[in-house]
Amino acid sequence: MNARTSARTTESFTLAHLSDPHLSTPTGMRARDVMGKRILGYLSWRLHRRTEHRGEVLDALLADLAEQRPDHVVVTGDLTHIGLPDEYRQVRAWLHKLGAPSSVSVVPGNHDAYVRSAIPRSLDLWSEFMDSDLDASCRSEGSSDDAFPYLRVRGGVGLIGVSTARPSLPFLATGTIGPDQLRRLALLLAETREAGLCRVILIHHPTSRGETSARKGLVDSGEFRAVVAREGVELVLHGHTHRASWTTVPVPGGTAPSIGVPSSSAMGNGRGWRARYNLCSLRQAAEGWELTVTTRRFDGHEDRFVHESERTVVLPGRRSERPALTAPVA
Ligand SMILES: [Fe+2]
Repeated sequence: MNARTSARTTESFTLAHLSDPHLSTPTGMRARDVMGKRILGYLSWRLHRRTEHRGEVLDALLADLAEQRPDHVVVTGDLTHIGLPDEYRQVRAWLHKLGAPSSVSVVPGNHDAYVRSAIPRSLDLWSEFMDSDLDASCRSEGSSDDAFPYLRVRGGVGLIGVSTARPSLPFLATGTIGPDQLRRLALLLAETREAGLCRVILIHHPTSRGETSARKGLVDSGEFRAVVAREGVELVLHGHTHRASWTTVPVPGGTAPSIGVPSSSAMGNGRGWRARYNLCSLRQAAEGWELTVTTRRFDGHEDRFVHESERTVVLPGRRSERPALTAPVA
């Protein structure tokens, strides 16, 4: 595998991590679209989700991101509700508002793979936000699974996008990585470790034990943890639970943070979490990579995102011997 690199360096690199915006409106439904699982999802949107996930919160998010000016934005899945073709088009238009495709990275969630026929359509429409820096000869082409994991190298950081998006039975919201993707992930983690990159895995479902129920969990989370326990990773970013969380996954020499964010569009009705997103700043320190996570929360009174908290940790990865490794930035 060959990652494209250049000689540009940065002192720190800031990722804005958002997730689960559920930003689309299910429109253009045909009779066959409301059969099976989609009818349940549509009813859930009518009864609950359309008042919970609000466009005005996303407008405030865009305004805040314009002020905070992160180097890159990552979206860890569930951008749609029931994966209708028109929802993917709505999402693509919104992603372009977030930034240029080279500065915005996306992985799909379970809502983006609601039914099997939806998956290729979503990937086709969002593919420029999931383009890999990997040499095409190193990847298989032509199916949704083979497009993952992707690697995008930005500012000394290797963004590794993993897909857990698989159709599941009604009332389930599980995810699966699959053995082929896990095998490629292990190779990619080893190669990017040798390149001295700060490796950040983007994944929709949480991978730590106990973060969600079996009905909503990652089926092969144990296999994922075995891969990172062997090959290492510096940081895992996920969504899915609509809650803020900070857990760890075992890696050689310690543990790496696994950080989840609530939905970036949520009003927080009932017992739900109000919208938040994280700014994750990565910089090389004497001992390794240092991470500062700044959480910004939607304030419903002021109709804007405000500072909530900040936390700094040193990640377990070794300090890069080759700090000049960086990739083309938009
Ligand atoms: Fe989800």
